[in-house]
Amino acid sequence: MAEMFRHLAPSYDRINRVISLGGDLRWRRWAADEAMRSKPGLVLDLATGTGKMAKAVQLRGGKVVAVDLSPGMLDIARKKECGATTLLLGHVLKLPFQDNSFDALTIAFALRDFPGLAGPFRECYRVLRPGGKLVCLELSRPRRWAALLHHLYMKRAVPTIGWWLGGRAKDYRFLPHSVAHFPAAPELARLLESAGFRQVHFRRLAAGAVAIHCGCKENG
Ligand SMILES: C[S@@+](CC[C@H](N)C(=O)[O-])C[C@H]1O[C@@H](n2cnc3c(N)ncnc32)[C@H](O)[C@@H]1O
Repeated sequence: MAEMFRHLAPSYDRINRVISLGGDLRWRRWAADEAMRSKPGLVLDLATGTGKMAKAVQLRGGKVVAVDLSPGMLDIARKKECGATTLLLGHVLKLPFQDNSFDALTIAFALRDFPGLAGPFRECYRVLRPGGKLVCLELSRPRRWAALLHHLYMKRAVPTIGWWLGGRAKDYRFLPHSVAHFPAAPELARLLESAGFRQVHFRRLAAGAVAIHCGCKENG
């Protein structure tokens, strides 16, 4: 995974902006609004990549610690806009923090890359303080009426656009496959509940092609 993201890192933001038709920044802003709703003090942005989600949280007044597996992605985050964010190398299954360390936790476009979901959700739950909020922004399955168009776009257009803009087509061929094998939004909500999160809810964006899931660690 770190090897794949080493290749993706230099062109990641540019390609993302184009293949999301400019939506990625807006979606991260909405996810950051969710995370900041209860005015958390310390926020963990997990799998921060080039730091775009961390930046959105920071702009809303959050003090952010960001973790990622890929030194290549973290280098870009460091060079770009993450001045006030603490950036750390780390794996989602072994976060370098004590229990109950964070008031909120964000994960943007990375759940599909994790080794399963049960282990990562367990770690998220552990490092959140009681009452702390998890916000996940992720690609999802579009509504039925948009499914064919979405499928063609992801399968045909996205790898070509990725290649045109300097990425490796094979990395972007992985995308539709990873979305197809990822739990649909209601199922992801159930997995969060099984991991112990409460007040779980989700919001579909972009005709369901993207979703924001929220859940809170139980109080006490
Ligand atoms: C698609 S990028 C998303 C980056 C960023 N959150 C964003 O909004 O653009 C996925 C990120 O997850 C990181 N990642 C994948 N598996 C990981 C793991 N097991 N532990 C920590 N980070 C991981 C990758 O290195 C990559 O930077």
